[in-house]
Amino acid sequence: MTTTTTGDDVLVFPPIWLRDNCPCEHCRDPRNGQKLFGITDLPADLTVRGTEVSADTITVTFGPDGHRGPFSRAWLDAQLSASSGDGRTEAGKRLWQAQDLDGRLPAADWAAYRDDPAERARVLSAVRDLGFALLHGTPTEEETVLAIARTFGYPRETNYGTLFDVRVEPDPSNLAFTGMRIAPHTDNPYRDPVPTLQLLHCLANAADGGDSGLVDGFTAASLLRAEDEEAFRILSTTLVPFAWYDAGTSLRADRPLIDVDPEGHLREVRFNNRSMQALRLDPAATTAFYAAYRRFAEIIARPELLLTFRLDPGDCVIFDNTRLLHARTAFAESGARHLQGCYADLDALTSTLRTLEGTA
Ligand code: OGA
Ligand code: ZN
Ligand code: ZN
Repeated sequence: MTTTTTGDDVLVFPPIWLRDNCPCEHCRDPRNGQKLFGITDLPADLTVRGTEVSADTITVTFGPDGHRGPFSRAWLDAQLSASSGDGRTEAGKRLWQAQDLDGRLPAADWAAYRDDPAERARVLSAVRDLGFALLHGTPTEEETVLAIARTFGYPRETNYGTLFDVRVEPDPSNLAFTGMRIAPHTDNPYRDPVPTLQLLHCLANAADGGDSGLVDGFTAASLLRAEDEEAFRILSTTLVPFAWYDAGTSLRADRPLIDVDPEGHLREVRFNNRSMQALRLDPAATTAFYAAYRRFAEIIARPELLLTFRLDPGDCVIFDNTRLLHARTAFAESGARHLQGCYADLDALTSTLRTLEGTA
């Protein structure tokens, strides 16, 4: 790497920033790189007293205490060009509509995914960037969904168990356990934190119907922002109560349908009419919320946003539950259809991906 930082260039970095990032062994434990001081341990009146430049290091002497920090020039250079953001918001994603992916779904064969780290990285980067990926040819044995989650992270155990079965049940506790259509939604908005990933693994799909659908919720939200700024503002600032309960469980989270970070970037979308509870707003705000909610729902329902495909036995879809909405068409309850699902989290997936890509 060529380095260009000179002693003078160091002065673009405020003294407090330099000192807070001092790499010396008094400031960071050499065994783990962790910082050994807190902000109040630093002098409030820090200055840079002088710099000494060598081939790959700029040593900064700080005032008022004379502390010396040897900064790598390559590291300082990298800071000048570093982009901010952890990749979780729309700024780090590739937004899509159905036709963008038509015939080009991010997919891999299970054996290649399992055995080839480059193939694994390709699949996991699709989940990060597009919000989903498909695996074909996985074992059609129960609990395979857990083994798939463990290839990149950890199944998240909930009150539903470590996995859940999606099939027709005689006394359904959820519409998922009937043959009814399920409109695009995110799962479990009543949890805090919400599961950031979901996996659905197909064991049987012989029924008439039961096709799968995905909608990019960031695309839908960005369309709303472009078409109706006020509706976007309302949905990103109104807390919506979500809840789920049974005899032994009572879950509740109040979150906006569209979550933006402090810089205004889309970060999470929640959309689930089944678990949305009564809002308590004044009448005018309530009416305005419902109008905005309807606008958003109409955008989500646009056919050009819905990517449809069919899960066959041995297929598994992995998707970002904070961004994509998933759906299924109705199916004949006489036919055998059985999915097993589990929740997992993006932090472990992106950690695995960074390690595979060597960018940890
Ligand atoms: C669900 C769900 C999709 C399907 O159970 O939450 O969305 O294909 N199921 O059955
Ligand atoms: Zn130091
Ligand atoms: Zn669902």
